[in-house]
Amino acid sequence: MNINRVPTGIKELDGILEGGYPLQQGILISGPPGSGKTILATHFLYKSCKDGKKCMLMLTHVNVESFLEQALSIGIDFQACIDKGSLFIKKAFETRTNKIYNAARHGTGIGFLEKDCVQNVQDIPDDVEIVVIDNLDMLSLYHSTEEFADKFFTINDILFAKKCTTLFLIGHEESRVKHAIAQHTSFGNIELFMDRDPITGKGMRQMYIPKMRCTYLSLEPLNFKITHEGIKIEKIFQRDEMIKGALGPLL
Ligand SMILES: Nc1ncnc2c1ncn2[C@@H]1O[C@H](COP(=O)(O)OP(=O)(O)O)[C@@H](O)[C@H]1O
Ligand SMILES: [Mg+2]
Repeated sequence: MNINRVPTGIKELDGILEGGYPLQQGILISGPPGSGKTILATHFLYKSCKDGKKCMLMLTHVNVESFLEQALSIGIDFQACIDKGSLFIKKAFETRTNKIYNAARHGTGIGFLEKDCVQNVQDIPDDVEIVVIDNLDMLSLYHSTEEFADKFFTINDILFAKKCTTLFLIGHEESRVKHAIAQHTSFGNIELFMDRDPITGKGMRQMYIPKMRCTYLSLEPLNFKITHEGIKIEKIFQRDEMIKGALGPLL
C-alpha cells in the first residue's frame, strides 16, 4: 500500500524515504547535541512553509533568535514565512525562563514546568499541519519513565487526531529506556551520530534509519555533512563497495 508522504526538504533523504516523512505521523529524530537534529527540522519546516503548509515549531531549549540565526547561517530565512503566518514559533523557552525565575523566587522547584506540555500540544490550532517539537529532553528529564511513556503516548495521540505530521527531537544519552519508549511509540525514527571513521580516523556525521513504518529501509548508515547550505547527504555508504575499494589490488 502506498502511503502519502511529506517532503523532508532534503532531496536525497526524500529519495531514501520513498518521497518523505509519512503523512500525519510522528517521527522521532534522535542524536547527541550538535548532531544536526535542529538543522534536519529546519529543512523540513522551510520546505513545508514553501509548499503552503501551516507549521508550528515548539522550542523548549533555545530562544527563537538563536534558531533563526542558525537557519540564516545555512541560507534559510524564515522571516517571510513568519510574517505571512505559515510558521508560528512557540516560545516555550522564554516562558520557561520566566517560570524558573518565579519558581526560584518562591522556592517551588521547577519540575512542574513540563506538566503543562500535554496542554501545549492540545492548544495547537486545528489548521496546523506540520509540527516540530525541539525538543523532548526536558519532558524526559522531569518525568519518571512511566510518566514520560504516558505523556509521550498522549502527545502522539493528540497530534494524530489533529492530523499533524510531527518531528519529535530528542537527545538519547539521558535515558536509554525513555529513548526506547519514544522509538516504540513513534511511527519512525532517524538517528544522527557523530563518529570517527575507523580507517581514516577522520570525524564524520552519520544518519541511520532503524524504523520507518510502511517504508523499505536498507539499514545502511548514510554519511552526511553540514555545510553553509545545510545537510548534504553523501553517496550511500556501501560496505561491500568499501571492502572492494580497500582490497581492490589484492582481489
Ligand atoms: N552554517 C553552518 N555551516 C556549517 N555547519 C553548521 C552551520 N550551522 C550549524 N552547523 C553545524 O551544525 C551543528 C549544530 O546542529 P544542530 O542541528 O543545531 O544540532 P542539534 O540540534 O542536534 O544539537 C553545529 O555544531 C555545526 O557543526
Ligand atoms: Mg537542537
